[in-house]
Amino acid sequence: MNDLVMHDVSVCFHLPHTVVQAVKHVSLTCRAGQITGLIGESGSGKSVLGMSVLGLLGPTAQITGSIGYRGRDMLALTEDEYRALRGSEIAFIPQNPRTAFDPLRKVGEQITEPLTARGMAKAEAQERMLTRLAELGFDDPRAVAASYSFELSGGMAQRALCALGTIQRPQWLIADEPTKGLDAILRQQVATIFRKLRREGVSMLMVTHDLHLAEALCDRIAVLRDGTIVEEGPAAELFARPQTAYMQMLLAARPDVLAAKRNEVAYGNA
Ligand SMILES: Nc1ncnc2c1ncn2[C@@H]1O[C@H](COP(=O)(O)OP(=O)(O)OP(=O)(O)O)[C@@H](O)[C@H]1O
Ligand SMILES: [Mg+2]
Repeated sequence: MNDLVMHDVSVCFHLPHTVVQAVKHVSLTCRAGQITGLIGESGSGKSVLGMSVLGLLGPTAQITGSIGYRGRDMLALTEDEYRALRGSEIAFIPQNPRTAFDPLRKVGEQITEPLTARGMAKAEAQERMLTRLAELGFDDPRAVAASYSFELSGGMAQRALCALGTIQRPQWLIADEPTKGLDAILRQQVATIFRKLRREGVSMLMVTHDLHLAEALCDRIAVLRDGTIVEEGPAAELFARPQTAYMQMLLAARPDVLAAKRNEVAYGNA
């Protein structure tokens, strides 16, 4: 199977005056055909772990351990080997849509580029791009395709980025906060897309703060704290019976739970 098997992964950043250890001895199996959620508070190492899979961390990062995939160690690939896999076999949707698009080129052109670069006819690539934008909730995909990224709202840019990440129909998708900045309806739409992708056989690692998304979408969840996995298991079990005080704290800090508490205080519990 094409599982992603992280074994004893650690990541250090060597900065001029200090060393930051962002990920510490993480072992985690992300199963093919499933959605694995990576949750935890800000700075816990979620993005760093997700980016380490595709060699996206840059020269200051020192990574040890291994990430097995189809008989190879992802951490031992050369830059050329990473490039051959990125986007087509394993795609990454980065956390910040603003910096992911080139501001000088139209969004549609950037989404179709990987397809035409691999030999697809322009008209077919265009059609596929417009279909995917429509699936991601855009009423007027042509207008979005003809826009520059800075002309899109945060939510629109986020969805356009999902289109870019999934356009090559990768086997694996690593999505970093794909619902960030989206309102409830758009979050639903993005969740629907990910479900559809899973039905199509795409495996996913989903980095998210959005515990509702994690609960609704993920098969398994790993909880990161300060670079370490503190809890891991089937999503339904983890949400129903959190084992650690940290997970209980994350659940209690959900916006809806806090709002309900505020209402209780403001309006009583009648
Ligand atoms: N390029 C880098 N150089 C130095 N330190 C970094 C670098 N990238 C991340 N870090 C540090 O690694 C730790 C983990 O960062 P990471 O971005 O993975 O957190 P996160 O869990 O994704 O947080 P958030 O939910 O806010 O996105 C943080 O302390 C961060 O400051
Ligand atoms: Mg992050």
